[in-house]
Amino acid sequence: MEIWRWAFVLMVISAFGYGIGAEQLPQPHQTERISGSAGDVLEDNPVGRLKVFVYELPSKYNKKILQKDSRCLTHMFAAEIYMHRFVLSSPVRTLNPEEADWFYTPVYTTCDLTPNGLPLPFKSPRMMRSAIQLISSNWPYWNRTEGADHFFVVPHDFGACFHYQEEKAIERGILPLLQRATLVQTFGQRNHVCLKEGSITIPPYAPPQKMQAHLISPETPRSIFVYFRGLFYDVGNDPEGGYYARGARAAVWENFKDNPLFDISTEHPTTYYEDMQRAVFCLCPLGWAPWSPRLVEAVIFGCIPVIIADDIVLPFADAIPWEEIGVFVAEEDVPHLDTILTSIPPEIILRKQRLLANPSMKQAMLFPHPAQPGDAFHQILNGLARKLPHGKDIYLKPGEKSLNWTAGPVGDLKPW
Ligand SMILES: *[C@@H]1O[C@H](CO)[C@@H](O)[C@H](O)[C@H]1NC(C)=O
Ligand SMILES: *[C@@H]1O[C@H](CO)[C@@H](O)[C@H](O)[C@H]1NC(C)=O
Repeated sequence: MEIWRWAFVLMVISAFGYGIGAEQLPQPHQTERISGSAGDVLEDNPVGRLKVFVYELPSKYNKKILQKDSRCLTHMFAAEIYMHRFVLSSPVRTLNPEEADWFYTPVYTTCDLTPNGLPLPFKSPRMMRSAIQLISSNWPYWNRTEGADHFFVVPHDFGACFHYQEEKAIERGILPLLQRATLVQTFGQRNHVCLKEGSITIPPYAPPQKMQAHLISPETPRSIFVYFRGLFYDVGNDPEGGYYARGARAAVWENFKDNPLFDISTEHPTTYYEDMQRAVFCLCPLGWAPWSPRLVEAVIFGCIPVIIADDIVLPFADAIPWEEIGVFVAEEDVPHLDTILTSIPPEIILRKQRLLANPSMKQAMLFPHPAQPGDAFHQILNGLARKLPHGKDIYLKPGEKSLNWTAGPVGDLKPW
């Protein structure tokens, strides 16, 4: 019965057609602007509201690392590289550190990949410490605040905790030298030691041109109800089961593998991006970390993200009304996913789709080259601008010290 009801609803929804991407501006009646302050924040222009000084570091901290492995430009942690390029040519950049509001240290800590393309964060802490040592001895600005007016892009799984296993990441904690800095990171989970208050949560990098190349006609009906491609179990790293995705992905598979409303599989088809444009709901469950590029892909392709990751902090949450765009399902409620999704009234679904069709929403999820107004770079700068002016208490008194340079795991103290 549910299925027949849904067949009808899908027909109604498909009849609307959706615009995708800024190239194909959807018809006005198909998109909806977020009302009130959130919409304004999303469209803010950071130019004129902050000045950023970029430290010039020896190329071994950034460009040389990239030269060794160009895959770093396309993996989901690539924001650290594109942000560097962006700020260098941005009008918010200042060459005069005396007038800077923010100091930026462009260090590529996630560009050390295994043959399979997974980043190894083991050298990152030493590299980061080395970069901070360098800026603190060559310029007077670090010592003034011990980093309180400095920001760092740390896009790794658990940000500046620099480990891909959550337990180890928690045990390590945020690198002690970054305790006063502002962290710009993909990882976001409430009440977690790896997310510091005041951090800016950003989307993972997903290649804009590649997604653009897979756009299909916005008239295409959304004939798939729920779509997901990815792992349900990670047998290699979690042989007993239960750790990976805290069991939530396994629960999706066990409960819905035979449900005709669910198009779910581990097979990654070449039509993956197209399929998302044919789906009403796209599952975005946690994996090892709460976030994955699926969230970005869902927004870009107008597929309502079904977020299954308790306590997740979503990218640019002060600008993007995630509650209105997406559907949040508690990890323990996964067995009821079918009932939860089929009981959402069609008018609510249509509204979410209209909001998703808003080009400014998509733009905020991307790091395009060249940059475009309202993109993720601009949202990061907006986030930094909203933290200004700095409180007077960021400046240390002469001789005052707050950071402990010898704290943290002994292995991190070795030179890089
Ligand atoms: C900053 O402080 C450290 C030690 O606390 C010192 O070694 C360094 O020379 C100082 N930097 C500058 C530019 O004075
Ligand atoms: C700095 O950290 C080290 C290692 O945890 C500790 O032994 C030392 O006492 C700390 N120093 C200060 C001044 O707190």
